[in-house]
Amino acid sequence: MEVVLSGIRSTGNLHLGNYFGAVKNFVAMQKDYRCFFFIADYHSLTTHPTPVDLHENVKAVLSEYLAAGLDPELSTIYIQSDVPEIPELYLLLNMISYVGELERTTTFKEKVRKQPDNVNAGLLTYPVLMAADILIHKANKVPVGKDQEPHLEMARKFARRFNQMYHTECFPLPDAFNWGKELIKVPGLDGTGKMGKSEGNGIFLADTDAEIRKKVMRAVTDTGPANPGQPMSEPVRNLFYIMEIVSSPDTVAYFREQYETCRIRYGDMKKQLAEDIIKIVAPIRERINQIQSDNDYLRKVARMGAEKARESASKTLAEVRSIIGFKPF
Ligand code: TRP
Repeated sequence: MEVVLSGIRSTGNLHLGNYFGAVKNFVAMQKDYRCFFFIADYHSLTTHPTPVDLHENVKAVLSEYLAAGLDPELSTIYIQSDVPEIPELYLLLNMISYVGELERTTTFKEKVRKQPDNVNAGLLTYPVLMAADILIHKANKVPVGKDQEPHLEMARKFARRFNQMYHTECFPLPDAFNWGKELIKVPGLDGTGKMGKSEGNGIFLADTDAEIRKKVMRAVTDTGPANPGQPMSEPVRNLFYIMEIVSSPDTVAYFREQYETCRIRYGDMKKQLAEDIIKIVAPIRERINQIQSDNDYLRKVARMGAEKARESASKTLAEVRSIIGFKPF
């Protein structure tokens, strides 16, 4: 069975865009692939979080993914730092990655520009750690956004180089995976572009009902159609997109009709939209809160995930060590 692996940033609280985009697809894939989902807490150290923040972020993100439907029985869900085989493979891969190519990686150059006071070696070798994450389970498919494609390309390069250097086919070359047309893209509430964490235009799965209402009521619109058949402005088109994702077809048809006949009141539309979003988010939020306050459950999930992940990881690592020439006497 093909192996799917996804690394989750530990600072990334889930918003509706993540939920209807990647996460729903992850949930659906769990039965058809061998899925590995892990929280990339080592990677987050490049920005020097406090110990409290590090721990709380991991806990929040794990709770959110579980609440959204990742199933620790079907998939292997683990925390990166619970799997010591990953840093060992990272060390080994560092020997076949070159400083020049790491320095030329676009994401590294961007970081150097953004945080010139903290250009640590972890940033430089970020793609090597990510390659170790992927190759340790011999993953075939890696769902990544556009921003991560250069990193995946590096992982392929390191896999190919290792295979050639040691005349082996140990590592399959991991492919980027983005579901093509099936991927739902949720626009943000600010009128342009898609929903994102840093854009400040999103609704999060952990938002309260009041926060959701406030955010939706503040969403950008326009002055309304002046005559029938007038093409929609981008902000209004985006609100309709969101409505198509969260509301019933009848509701969408009603407001489209209102728009087309120039009778639409955006306030009414937003009120309806907010309630339909709440219908989806509120039960998930309750699950998040419940899971987050259940330390026994979280501990159990993390332990089971680490066990399954280490079983797979130690097999690969033993093979790699022997290929390189580390052998018992
Ligand atoms: N770098 C990825 C991000 O920022 C997270 C990540 C770490 C990852 N290791 C991975 C993603 C391995 C896919 C595979 O989103």
